[in-house]
Amino acid sequence: MKPFSISLGGEFEKMKYDFDKIIDRKNTDCYKWDYLKEIFTTDDVLPLWVADLDFAPPPKILKAIENRAKHPIYGYTFHPQNYYSSFINWHKKRFDCNIDSDWIIHNPSIVTGFNLIIQNFTQRNDKILIFTPVYTPFYDAINLNERQLITSELQIRQKQYEIDFDDLEMKLKNDVKMILFCSPHNPIGRVWKKSELIKIVELCERYNVFLVSDEIHADIVFENKRNIPLVSFSTKLEKFISLHSPAKTFGISGITNSIAVIPNKILRTQFSDTLKKLHWESGNIFGLLAFEAAYSSDENWLEQLLEYLYENYLFVKNELLKKCPEIVSFNLEGTYLMWLDFRNFGLTQEKLIKKLVYEAKLGFSDGTIYGKDGTGFMRMNIACPRSILKKAVKQLVNNFK
Ligand SMILES: Cc1ncc(COP(=O)(O)O)c(C=O)c1O
Repeated sequence: MKPFSISLGGEFEKMKYDFDKIIDRKNTDCYKWDYLKEIFTTDDVLPLWVADLDFAPPPKILKAIENRAKHPIYGYTFHPQNYYSSFINWHKKRFDCNIDSDWIIHNPSIVTGFNLIIQNFTQRNDKILIFTPVYTPFYDAINLNERQLITSELQIRQKQYEIDFDDLEMKLKNDVKMILFCSPHNPIGRVWKKSELIKIVELCERYNVFLVSDEIHADIVFENKRNIPLVSFSTKLEKFISLHSPAKTFGISGITNSIAVIPNKILRTQFSDTLKKLHWESGNIFGLLAFEAAYSSDENWLEQLLEYLYENYLFVKNELLKKCPEIVSFNLEGTYLMWLDFRNFGLTQEKLIKKLVYEAKLGFSDGTIYGKDGTGFMRMNIACPRSILKKAVKQLVNNFK
């Protein structure tokens, strides 16, 4: 049940963090709690949708921001060396992965990053492949940039999603230029195995396909699963970029800042020239500080967060098994997003959403925004205090059993 082991240390080593504490986020212009009417047509739902935490970040982040806010001048700011080294050290410590400091480029946000990559390294009508169901902006990035969307549907085998490698190879053979990969995968909660990653890399190498890996969920990994950054295999691939950010792990999406790892010098220069043209090379002061503080913060906070999230997951899974087994949940290997299968009820998606919103009074993410293979499914964000989760599960079970 324990997440994989890590070394502890630093001033917060023995601190016990209180994830049960309810922090009222209402009236902070927060999407999750203040934007309900726009998303669900009513304010009267318990929100378990958009992927951010209802928990305070580690004290180091709060302190860094508070201290800087006290200084009254917020002028132009550069990326200090510690910004990069915090990220490099984190990857070494958490994933035993070596990243060369030359490979790292500032990137405003992950979604901005993969849009810029598509614009820079593919042409109009080029084929770009994604594994579905997947995070909605993957579709938007391909469609809005007028590239051809190629999907490879993940297959449910033995109650778990898997890549259909035969389908993938058939599609790659047919002139796919790029794969937009999500690792770990939102919304189905898979942490890809080494053998799966190796196969993807080999196929990209064989068919000369550009591999782009969105690793925003890298730190949220449970049990004996281990996240393997794809850059570990990058020497095999000339055309490879991975995108990283502390936003999901540390609950700092509102001051987001990210990084692109680009081992190939030609691609790196092209990407940084684009940022230059857009005058996008520097970040926001608080985003920079939060990034550095996050990646040099207390790993003990993260360990406790992982334990809390995993217990949240077990709670939902067991309650559903006991009280409403018709709602099927998948093993959560990573992310704090549970993927729930409601197909046993035989409802249309519209009726399912209406029942959830108006009867159970729950705000989940509609499975179909992740692809047509999300029909009959909903995504539930479990990164909230247990008392809220218990209330949500009760409402769910009472209305579906
Ligand atoms: C897979 C994935 N990528 C990217 C993002 C958002 O990243 P950013 O805010 O840095 O653009 C999310 C947010 O939920 C996500 O799940």
